[in-house]
Formats: sequence, structure tokens, C-alpha cells
Amino acid sequence: MSDDQSIVDWIHRNLATAPSKQLGEGYQARVTAFDTPYGQVVVKQAHRDWLLGRASVIRESKIYQRLQTIPGIPRYFGLLSGELLVLELVPGLSLRAAEAELVDRDAFFASMLATLKAMHAEGVAHGDLKRKDNIIVGPQNQPYLIDFGVACLRKQAIAPFNKIWFKWAKQMDYNAWVKLKYGRKPRGMTAEDAALYEPLWLERIARWIRVPWQKLTFRRWRKRRKNEGLQ
Ligand SMILES: Nc1ncnc2c1ncn2[C@@H]1O[C@H](COP(=O)(O)OP(=O)(O)O)[C@@H](O)[C@H]1O
Ligand SMILES: [Mg+2]
Repeated sequence: MSDDQSIVDWIHRNLATAPSKQLGEGYQARVTAFDTPYGQVVVKQAHRDWLLGRASVIRESKIYQRLQTIPGIPRYFGLLSGELLVLELVPGLSLRAAEAELVDRDAFFASMLATLKAMHAEGVAHGDLKRKDNIIVGPQNQPYLIDFGVACLRKQAIAPFNKIWFKWAKQMDYNAWVKLKYGRKPRGMTAEDAALYEPLWLERIARWIRVPWQKLTFRRWRKRRKNEGLQ
């Protein structure tokens, strides 16, 4: 029996009784950490009352599987009962929490860019990298990308719309990377990095909608309070 299967089996037997820590709870899923005899593991479980949630976790498990050879992607152990995504827990803080104490920013962002390029070559664009919670500063300053809930997958078949969508999603990943590295209004970019940056009208429209909406619904404030409650 492979180690991966042993971990998934252990989670299966101990899910209800083992001590656990809730790491996050979004619209689609709940993420919980477990200490297993094989190391620390996270389990992402879709909310039962949301039909699309389950499909989204299954899709995400396929993406993690596809990216397993790439440094900076957590190890995928398996999908339990067709609905629980079991992953390696990456020790470290999110980029949101650890940003100020990054040891070597240039090396960190160079590694993240290498992960992005390798991921795109495998036909996956992340699509949600502006969110600093989706990047973990792992051991040896290695960035890890998590949360492929809204990732875009390149289709093998001829699909013109998918081709355009994938191209935009890749560009959004690079734009997010530039903004994470240089700030929201990027200045002082190297020529190489400037060549990666290409703001999209799609992002502008999304911002026109998002910013007033967040203000109207106090979203940032509510989220901050919720996250404080989870720590
Ligand atoms: N492999 C992992 N290692 C460490 N922490 C993780 C891992 N996966 C998720 N988390 C933690 O759980 C939180 C929620 O997980 P995520 O996949 O982003 O779910 P959501 O779709 O709800 O945002 C993350 O912000 C992170 O703190
Ligand atoms: Mg997330």
C-alpha cells in the first residue's frame, strides 16, 4: 500500500474523532488540519448544502494531481469518498501574514514565477493569486500556491473560447505576480518583469464592480474579523 493511500485511509478512520484545527471556511468548502502519524495534513471538504461545491473540490483534486511534479505545489494524497481533498499541510504563514518578514524577496518571487510558468505549461492558470492567502511562504523561503478553486484549465480539444480564456487567466496570474512583487501600482520594474505585465480590461471591469461592492457590504472588515476569530 502506498504512503498516500495510508494517509487517506487514516483520515477516513479518524476524521470524526481526531483533534483538528479549522484553517478556513469559504463559500465552497471548509479546510481543516490534522496531525497524522504520517505528518500534518489538510482536508478540504465542500459544503454539503452547495451542490457545485463538491464538483469544485473534485476538479481541484484533478488540478493538484496534474501539478504534482512542480516545486511549490503541495503534495496531493488523494480524494476521499469522492469529496474530501487530502493534501500535505505546508508549514508556514500566508504571504499576507509573512510579507513584511520575507528573507529574500527577489529569490522568493523568482521561485514563484518559475512555479507559475511550469503550471501554465501543464495547462493550468490559477486565476486568484491577488489574494495573498493563496500563497504560503514555505520552508526555505519556497512559495507554495494553494486554492485552485477558480483555476482555468486548458482544453486539449480545439476550443477557441477556452483558448482565449486560458490566455487571459495566464495573464492575470502574471499581473498578480507583478503586483505582489511591486505593489498595487507597480513602479521601478526590471525590463524583464515589465514585459510580463499587461493589465487587462477584464480586470479593470472586475475592479469597478468589486471595489464599490466591497465598500457597500463591508466585505474587507467582515473578512478581517472572521480571520481573527479563526486564529
Ligand atoms: N496545503 C495547505 N497547507 C497549509 N495551509 C493550507 C493548505 N491548503 C489550505 N490551507 C489553509 O486553508 C485556507 C483555506 O484554503 P483554500 O484552499 O484557500 O480554501 P478556500 O477556497 O476556502 O479559500 C488557506 O488560506 C490556508 O490558510
Ligand atoms: Mg483561498
